[in-house]
Amino acid sequence: MNDRRPIEVSFPIEEVNTIAEREAHAKRYYRPVYTMHKWWARRLGSVFRTMLIYALADEDMNVAGLRQATFAENNGLPEVDWDSPDSLWEYYLEDLDFDGKTVLDPFMGGGTTIVESLRMGCNAIGSELNPVAWFVVKKEVEPVNLDELDSAYNKLEEDVGQEIQDYYRTECPHCDEHADAMYYFWVDELPCRNCGENVPLFKDYRLANARSSKDSFYHVVCPDCWNVHTTDDYRTETSCPDCTHEYTPSDAGHVSRGKYTCPHCDEHPEMSIIESVKRFGRAEKSLFAVEYYCPETEKKGYKSVTEFDRELFEAAEEELGEKMDSLPIPTTERYRGSSDRARNHGYERYDQMFNDRQLLCLGKLLDGISQIEDQNVKEFLLLAFSDTTTFNNMFCEYHTSANKIQGMYKRHTITARHTPVENNVWGTDAGAATFSTEFEKMRAGKEFCLNPYEKYVEDGETKQRDGVGKIEGFVTDNPDKIGEPVGDSTDATYNVHLRCGTSEYLPIDDNSVDAVITDPPYFDNVMYSETADFYYVWLKQVLEDEYEHFTADLTPKASEIVSDPAGEDSVDTYRDKDHFVTGLTNVFDQANQKLKEGGIMAFTFHHKETEGWSTVLQSVLDAGFYVTALYPIRGEMRGSTHIHDKANIEYDMIVVCRDREEQPEEVSWRSIEDDIYFRASQEIERLEQSGSRLTQGDIFAVTMGKCLEVFSQHYPSVTHKGGTMSVEKALETIRGIVDEQLMEERVQILGDEMDTLSAIYLTYVLGRGGSISYNALNKDLRTRGIDVAELVREGLLEQEGDSLNVLGPLRRAERIENKRNPLAIDKAHYLRYLFEADKLSQQFGKWTDEGAIAALRRLADIENDDEYANIADYVAERTDTQLEFDDFF
Ligand SMILES: C[S@@+](CC[C@H](N)C(=O)[O-])C[C@H]1O[C@@H](n2cnc3c(N)ncnc32)[C@H](O)[C@@H]1O
Ligand SMILES: [Zn+2]
Ligand SMILES: [Zn+2]
Ligand SMILES: [Zn+2]
Repeated sequence: MNDRRPIEVSFPIEEVNTIAEREAHAKRYYRPVYTMHKWWARRLGSVFRTMLIYALADEDMNVAGLRQATFAENNGLPEVDWDSPDSLWEYYLEDLDFDGKTVLDPFMGGGTTIVESLRMGCNAIGSELNPVAWFVVKKEVEPVNLDELDSAYNKLEEDVGQEIQDYYRTECPHCDEHADAMYYFWVDELPCRNCGENVPLFKDYRLANARSSKDSFYHVVCPDCWNVHTTDDYRTETSCPDCTHEYTPSDAGHVSRGKYTCPHCDEHPEMSIIESVKRFGRAEKSLFAVEYYCPETEKKGYKSVTEFDRELFEAAEEELGEKMDSLPIPTTERYRGSSDRARNHGYERYDQMFNDRQLLCLGKLLDGISQIEDQNVKEFLLLAFSDTTTFNNMFCEYHTSANKIQGMYKRHTITARHTPVENNVWGTDAGAATFSTEFEKMRAGKEFCLNPYEKYVEDGETKQRDGVGKIEGFVTDNPDKIGEPVGDSTDATYNVHLRCGTSEYLPIDDNSVDAVITDPPYFDNVMYSETADFYYVWLKQVLEDEYEHFTADLTPKASEIVSDPAGEDSVDTYRDKDHFVTGLTNVFDQANQKLKEGGIMAFTFHHKETEGWSTVLQSVLDAGFYVTALYPIRGEMRGSTHIHDKANIEYDMIVVCRDREEQPEEVSWRSIEDDIYFRASQEIERLEQSGSRLTQGDIFAVTMGKCLEVFSQHYPSVTHKGGTMSVEKALETIRGIVDEQLMEERVQILGDEMDTLSAIYLTYVLGRGGSISYNALNKDLRTRGIDVAELVREGLLEQEGDSLNVLGPLRRAERIENKRNPLAIDKAHYLRYLFEADKLSQQFGKWTDEGAIAALRRLADIENDDEYANIADYVAERTDTQLEFDDFF
């Protein structure tokens, strides 16, 4: 195959990871264009930029702009050997120009592929079912004059901004003027089913930490009189300076795990919140504290609520009562989705997710925006408005130690909050995530489009290189217009076609696309249409007359490619696993038809479960592709130190595929199994040598990847035991290969250093979390001829029903002391115990040997806990000196 694309031959995994790892934590500084509006599970720009370069580059590529002149001379860019294109990475920071090449993304989402393609002079075609994503991407790429944006913003501030500001004032404790209210703190109240008194649903009575990390006091709320005061420690008893009530803020709450208890009656009955909502309706909300900012003295602080604050809110309620019908406020009924926990709490319509002041101020703001004349400018302010709603609703919480609000979409679902915090809609000089700061964020995104740059890492430092081009999308809804001039303008041509609808049918020419670069939905990861409805209902107020995608009440559900079987009885559309596979196959099939001959499709994928993988790959293969390469890359969710996450796959994968032009010859599974194993072990060795710490999950993912490379080339003509081998079965068999062969190797290496049982424990048990399924482990161990019961007998595991608890060193110490023949892992655990008990230096003697030290080092690796390594170093060194000492006598 001579026409292999670079991405099929190699991919600069380590190089991209260095950048991607930083980008993941600082998206706003790396590529501000992607933080203009929320979209879930966005992929990283650096990764997609690299995918594009490696998918499109060939000897005809250009380096654009000013640098081109020097390129011809010699600006240090190397020749690329296309058979081994490692040096292509040197072009990462260049302004590459793939003039006129066409890239398609049928799952456009937040638009990473589209923006990065435009950046490199490509024509881009994006298709996406969800109108919110369609609108967001349109605004990400469309040019705007920043001065016009600014003057529209200033006019809006005059027209409605001032008026809105008047609803966020509070008595200032520092001066005679009014301070700005940054945040209002609310609490849900439900009646006690026993005595009928209202119970405020406080988890505890802590409000916030001190604003400066130097100060070690806390802001708390008195449960008796709701006075806001400070205390040295919220975990110890304190007394209210106003009413002298004594209480411990951390313990005084009434809510835990969906239940509340009544502080008023003696029985303290425990009641389910959801049950009470069913009986009494949605919880009432009471205002209990304010955070203010005084522009006069530039002081921020927390205070109790006074009559002034209540009256101001009542005034808002009253004005809303008069204007509710004339303001653009969505009262649409919410979709009954399976990921939606808010409906159980009585939130049935969208307007119920906001309080009256929020509805009034958002309504006024949106009304002001809708009157802006220039459609493009109007849409940009609408984008900032829409993102503001993420932080201006009654589903946001306050981050007590960061002293700021958290958006409602901390996770991918909507969760009811019992102590919601109300943000300031327009914003003060000091606030966060208000309309004024969202405007700045959106503006920064557009500024980036005018002057894009690329960040990279050199000697551990982040550096920046300015680009020479612009990100400028001239959007058309007619794909045939691509390449044609925009209006009368002579220099601009249409370069983006954005389509809103299901990608199961793409009305563009066959054989017209150079590469498909995409990020398909991950099985059951995010219910995009449910989460996006929240924005849609507001956007619709302004866009429904302009775009037909905004005429429906809510975003489309039935053709969304997702697996959501839990929604079966609550949802009007049943979307199961088959629905997901069929939909995805249809889209991949379209992608295949649109690709030019020799073009490739590359996509990212991440799923913990084999089921997620086999469904996606089934679709890839059924759509006539085979997998030509697979790479692990840095995802967005790495770096978790939570013990239960340790066994998870840490990589996203890039899957590269191309059209299977002819029916492959029949092969037997037996004949390709060895090849898979060989390729997988090579890859694992390579990763380990580059310093990665691989978990069992990683090894599984890598092996599976290699399996697909081989298996997919022969699919569907792989035979096994007289039948054809399915994807699912192949993946399952690979699990077997991992267990039997790769794990075998690891057990053997460890087995040379210590007893077999310790080696098996370290290989199979550790890194899987604190609780393991009995059956899963038993199945793994049986291949080793070992019974789980042996590990239980040694006190390493404790059985509890169908699961096994992994016992830590401290809980095992006593058991180990009484053992006659402790294992290497026992000794390592006991050394850890001695260390924790501060007795290591006196007592380590009889517990050390090479096996114990090897076990400590392995524990350090797997648990990612340096303390184990320190103990190993310490005892190893002390043992050595002692030996010398003994030798001497
Ligand atoms: C994983 S997301 C893509 C994320 C995107 N690459 C980004 O960086 O934000 C998958 C997208 O597929 C969209 N989608 C689901 N079903 C679809 C369909 N039938 N046609 C087109 N798009 C669909 C979802 O709305 C979602 O935005
Ligand atoms: Zn003041
Ligand atoms: Zn009661
Ligand atoms: Zn009090």
